[in-house]
Amino acid sequence: MSLLHCKTIVLPKISDPRGNLTFIENDKHIPFNIQRVYYLYDVPGGAERGGHAHKGLNQLIIAMSGSFDVLLDDGKEQKRFHLNRSYQGLYVCPMVWRELDNFSSGSVCMVLASNLYDEADYYRDYDEYLAALVIQ
Ligand code: TYD
Repeated sequence: MSLLHCKTIVLPKISDPRGNLTFIENDKHIPFNIQRVYYLYDVPGGAERGGHAHKGLNQLIIAMSGSFDVLLDDGKEQKRFHLNRSYQGLYVCPMVWRELDNFSSGSVCMVLASNLYDEADYYRDYDEYLAALVIQ
């Protein structure tokens, strides 16, 4: 899979003067079933996260609060996304390298994932990732 499969997804938003509400349902608003949720918070200024690709994992990345950038790279091209809305998610398909940076103070990055945590699903070395793309 390539960058062409990755996209920003606009989630349902119920606007209300009491505060807005967004919801996400399995397989309906996103192209996978959710098995795991994790989030990054208290990210110090200048920190970088990610720096890996997944062999089979699908993910949706949402800026629940504040903002940050996600750099996606499929070995051929790169694209940078600025996430800053809680009703928008970035769908990241398997075999795409990602790096997260430019976190604003107090930002929260929530990730919905299609599988449980499995270290064997990671490429953490960029050259190893590129080599895996060639033999795909
Ligand atoms: P990692 O995926 O490298 O974080 P990021 O991509 O946000 O920089 O994970 C960092 C550490 O946390 C690593 O030791 C694995 C552990 N971890 C879990 O135990 N469970 C999880 O669901 C995740 C995402 C990470």
